[in-house]
Amino acid sequence: NTIPKFVDELKKPSVAEPKWKRKSKGKFKSKSKSAYSEDSYYELEMREAEHRFHRHFPKTKVWGYDGMVPGPTIEAQKDKTTYVKYINHLPKKHFLPIDYTLHSASDSPEVRSVVHLHGANVDWESDGHPEAWYTQDYAFTGPKFKRKVHEYTNHQPGTTLWYHDHTMGITRLNVYSGLAGFYLLRDSLEERLELPKGKYEIPLMIQDKSFNEDGSLFYPDSPPFPVPVQPSITPFFAGNTICVNGKVWPYLSVEPRKYRFRILNASNRRGYVLGLSNGQPMLQIGTDGGFLASPNEIHSVELLPAERTDVIIDFSGLMGQKITLINSDTDFQDEHTNVIMQFKVNQPLCGEDTSQIPTELAPSMDVHEGHAHTIRNLPLTASTDSYGRPMLLLNERMYHDPATEKPSLDSIEVWNFINATNLPHPIHVHLIQFKILERRPFNVERFQNEGILEFTGDPVEPRDYERGWKDTVKADIGMVTKIIMHWKEHKGNYIWHCHFLEHEDHDMMRPITIIDDAH
Ligand code: C2O
Ligand code: CU
Repeated sequence: NTIPKFVDELKKPSVAEPKWKRKSKGKFKSKSKSAYSEDSYYELEMREAEHRFHRHFPKTKVWGYDGMVPGPTIEAQKDKTTYVKYINHLPKKHFLPIDYTLHSASDSPEVRSVVHLHGANVDWESDGHPEAWYTQDYAFTGPKFKRKVHEYTNHQPGTTLWYHDHTMGITRLNVYSGLAGFYLLRDSLEERLELPKGKYEIPLMIQDKSFNEDGSLFYPDSPPFPVPVQPSITPFFAGNTICVNGKVWPYLSVEPRKYRFRILNASNRRGYVLGLSNGQPMLQIGTDGGFLASPNEIHSVELLPAERTDVIIDFSGLMGQKITLINSDTDFQDEHTNVIMQFKVNQPLCGEDTSQIPTELAPSMDVHEGHAHTIRNLPLTASTDSYGRPMLLLNERMYHDPATEKPSLDSIEVWNFINATNLPHPIHVHLIQFKILERRPFNVERFQNEGILEFTGDPVEPRDYERGWKDTVKADIGMVTKIIMHWKEHKGNYIWHCHFLEHEDHDMMRPITIIDDAH
């Protein structure tokens, strides 16, 4: 691996332009301007394009929203509706190896797409359900396809969301091709806080990729062990380069002042443990679902796929220094992938840094275990599919088995993820944000053999960087990971799944049906 690092400048993804905005009446009648809200409508076109990942690489064929990697950032305001039509202008043939044995892949058109807004509180018809896929010009649509224009009401606290492909059976290929972008939801709390903003607030999308000699994207057509099917899904694939915002090992020139970085792991399978090469701490201000109650000084933060963290890094007094964002995760790691990007403190301060680090951020709200209506024990187990390939399951069922998780509208539930596999899994639940209550070790062998859950130690608290609202959680090996959530606002068909995309596509995904029993 002789690709030079830190030779391409990090780019801030461009911001999507709405096609129209409209003033609509807000909820409250008043003469003030705030009684009106601005709704906006966007169209993003999914298409094939060429993208330069590194200055020494030829251009690479990608699929991107508006042809861009990452896609354009959608800027949204709390409680103001964002409408987005994601237009499928992708080619008819996929350029990555399709596994025709996976559900839906055999009897439906090869190139399909549907877009999920990850972390959003949204009506299920706009959620981007994996079976709501569609082809070019909607010639074919999946069984759960309902509408062309997604309606995002943004009824939730401001945070870093992201939109990405979620097509049944081919999510791993579509996301790897480039179909992912940021959706930044802002609210008045954020406005009041005076955090670093404008050019000092930068979202970072981290993804690992591998490239062929000719610059094309490499994705394996089979696992590294014999299987009777080809092309075949592989249970794991990690790229040998690290991209941030579509550049391989970029650098960012910064001023000696505070910056805010919203960091997202948008990799298929790779996890990262992020820290700074000079040992300096970062100030964490938010998690997946929004601001923490108060800032939290951290030296490292683990992000599995789909997890986000919001941090402030202070470069003041560091003029002339180069600080590397490093990865100390040990899975698939080598001397190259343990490096993410570099900050070069080489720009003169352009005016005083007036940004503030408040001692309090968001009002702290907790959901109490004692208020839970339902407790679900949900095993994560290893199995084999009908071809003898390894397959991972949730609640010992495949995706198409009938829904077993059917929360009632306005109920509080506790979910216990019992991880009896030999890997951690990032478990994502659609629609809601949850809190992690604890993790507790259990006797895996006994659980596997007798189905009996026997704890072998005391519960441990969530890690210091995962104490806020989350929509994706690391279910640790040999642990029961306990989370709590409130099914507040929407009923209908959603899903929960492992966010390792190779697991999700091979049945580590289950339906959720939220039922309104009051009617
Ligand atoms: Cu980010 Cu169901 O996904
Ligand atoms: Cu998994």
